[in-house]
Amino acid sequence: MAHTVKKAVVPAAGLGTRFLPATKALPKEMLPVVDTPAIQYVVEEAVRAGISDFLMITGRNKNALENHFDRNYELERTLEAKQDEARLEKVTHSTDLANIHYVRQGDPRGLGHAVLKAVHHVGHEPFALLLGDDIIHPKENLLERMLEVFEKTNSSVVALMEVPQELVSAYGVAVVESTDTTDVVRITGMVEKPEADKAPSNLAVIGRYILRPEVFGILEKTAPGRGGEIQLTDALSVLAENPDLGGGVVGLIFRGRRFDTGDRLEYLKSVVELAVERDDLGPGLLAWLHDFVAAQK
Ligand code: G1P
Repeated sequence: MAHTVKKAVVPAAGLGTRFLPATKALPKEMLPVVDTPAIQYVVEEAVRAGISDFLMITGRNKNALENHFDRNYELERTLEAKQDEARLEKVTHSTDLANIHYVRQGDPRGLGHAVLKAVHHVGHEPFALLLGDDIIHPKENLLERMLEVFEKTNSSVVALMEVPQELVSAYGVAVVESTDTTDVVRITGMVEKPEADKAPSNLAVIGRYILRPEVFGILEKTAPGRGGEIQLTDALSVLAENPDLGGGVVGLIFRGRRFDTGDRLEYLKSVVELAVERDDLGPGLLAWLHDFVAAQK
């Protein structure tokens, strides 16, 4: 199916303080999950869904990220000379994946502020917003499903996951009504990082959104919210409460595999799980893991 969504916006300006000291000089988006930078999984996911144009919102210290998606002639020549086609493909793959553009966020004033930096590049089109901390398992088709829901409803679409009550305060949380489709809900309001006992539901926003361009106009008028930052959740809540402003907001409830690589423990799990599934590393790693776990008393 040909989608009207051709562009993706990827905020990548965060300082990654949870991963210090690794992120002192390395962008957190470049941390390897097995042997591939986290950000490459995100770009590949969107490319599989038919998106070919990316805008990354970066900041200081993000040169490695730009270099990763650019040519590296020295490596290419060296591997060509050795006729090492397999490794050469690994070098050129990320360069050839998509058209990637960059804009800097400047002041770190929140996710809503980062998204606003995309207004000129995106223009009056709907777009996907992908948060790099979330890796969706490559076998899942979340983004494709979100695009289908978008084409059907013409509403902005956010991905939701049911989370345990003690975790809701780490997320944007949705107030929802059911629809005729079991995994699709209409969102009537949203709250950014509520306290567990005040959360309106256990449906947390994960880092995948299909947004109508009306969100930019709302963001321009959105005052700083939680943490003194301009919150995307607050702008989406305005769209959800006022469907006449931009078609409203629907949620797609995702029950598949997602890794929150912004959290160190979840990051470690993502590396193990994705490595275990690979033909080249899985058998060796799994055999070692069995012995290692058995030896822990
Ligand atoms: C951001 C959003 C939040 C969303 C989360 C998903 O928060 O503000 O609404 O639930 O991403 O990962 P952050 O994780 O950047 O603090």
